[in-house]
Amino acid sequence: MAATVATFRIPAQISYGCGAVETVGAEAKRLGGTRAFVIADPNLQKTGITDRVMASLQGQERVEARLFTAVEPEPSVQSVAAAAAAAKEYGCDVLVGIGGGSALDTAKAAVLLTRNPGSLEDYFGIGLVKQRGVPAILIPTPSGTGAEITPNSLFYVPALKEKKAVVSPHTIPDVAIIDPLLTLTVPPQVTAATGMDALSHAAEAYTSLNASPMTDLYALEAVRLIGAHLRTAVANGADLAAREGMARASFYAGIAIGNAGTNIVHALAYPLQGQHRITHGVANSLLLPYGMEFNALSNLGKFAAVAEALGEPIVGLSPRAAAAKSAEACRLLSMDVGIPQRMREVGIRSEHVDLLVEGAMKMTRLWANNPRQVRAEDARAILEKAL
Ligand SMILES: NC(=O)c1ccc[n+]([C@@H]2O[C@H](COP(=O)([O-])OP(=O)(O)OC[C@H]3O[C@@H](n4cnc5c(N)ncnc54)[C@H](O)[C@@H]3O)[C@@H](O)[C@H]2O)c1
Ligand SMILES: [Fe+2]
Repeated sequence: MAATVATFRIPAQISYGCGAVETVGAEAKRLGGTRAFVIADPNLQKTGITDRVMASLQGQERVEARLFTAVEPEPSVQSVAAAAAAAKEYGCDVLVGIGGGSALDTAKAAVLLTRNPGSLEDYFGIGLVKQRGVPAILIPTPSGTGAEITPNSLFYVPALKEKKAVVSPHTIPDVAIIDPLLTLTVPPQVTAATGMDALSHAAEAYTSLNASPMTDLYALEAVRLIGAHLRTAVANGADLAAREGMARASFYAGIAIGNAGTNIVHALAYPLQGQHRITHGVANSLLLPYGMEFNALSNLGKFAAVAEALGEPIVGLSPRAAAAKSAEACRLLSMDVGIPQRMREVGIRSEHVDLLVEGAMKMTRLWANNPRQVRAEDARAILEKAL
């Protein structure tokens, strides 16, 4: 019996499968669009993916489309304001975002600003967006963030050297289109980092205080899929079965965090992104084994289940030893896919730790989901271990 009431939100429609991207034009029309504004990762032009999106949109009767590709990696508030202004100036009545988390979060911001006054900064926080923007279709290309599913979007504020979040169900798109074929051109390092981000989502959501039986279903299956497919997707990006497994894992993990949230790993990793501009996936991957290690005693059974889903043999182990395998399994996976193992490998030194702890402790939204209480001295000890 569920002890608390859990709310479960996902996009009204999720279209999944090889070739699904070709449906974007029909979906835009179904949503009443006549002027589609497409916000796309600039690298997608070289792959021909944006041409296909534009052709699908422009192939619809009475639908016009304009392409915008000035998306910044891990977007700043300034870059997002430019995208939102361009969408408004075009008078778009449907917005399509395609790319990684950077393009999708830029699109989410542009959508919300079509029908909510002021600037993006007015909506930093939880539940501050008043109403939905124009209809939105989001299409991920790397398998990682799950941004096409979640109510979250994240932006870099250079003046504060912080990443800030907009969290609102109004930013969940109307349609998410997930097409594993779009992931075939993603380079190995990006596949590795985004895949480890998806693993952080799945493992954190599964062990979050806000986890529910509904999110557990998606979170644990996402862990299993990542354990089965990430190594192959990095080693041989042309392996469609591995790419398909990762595409599904990413969207399942997105469903899980969209409803159960993340916790210790993301909380400790955001200051690495804001203060040192380490990319999101790498920052999470660096801290994942340490976060799992610290949290394991909060729920030995769930942490053992994560280890098992990642392929670790746990039969015959004590509950404590089985739970400890979860951190080890995450470490082995990140080593195998070539992610840095230590913060010092990405330029972090002991003199940086004070400010990292300060930044991490501000992430109250995420600590509220953590299954073990974390004090500043705990955060410091974990970060020092990860140096
Ligand atoms: N909204 C959410 O719920 C959520 C969740 C997690 C992370 N994020 C945010 O997402 C951002 C990171 O997103 P990301 O990890 O997807 O990285 P990204 O969007 O910055 O993309 C990484 C790289 O992959 C390239 N790329 C993307 N698709 C490609 C393709 N098909 N072929 C070749 N190259 C391709 C991009 O050009 C870029 O160089 C961060 O700002 C993070 O905070 C958001
Ligand atoms: Fe993430």
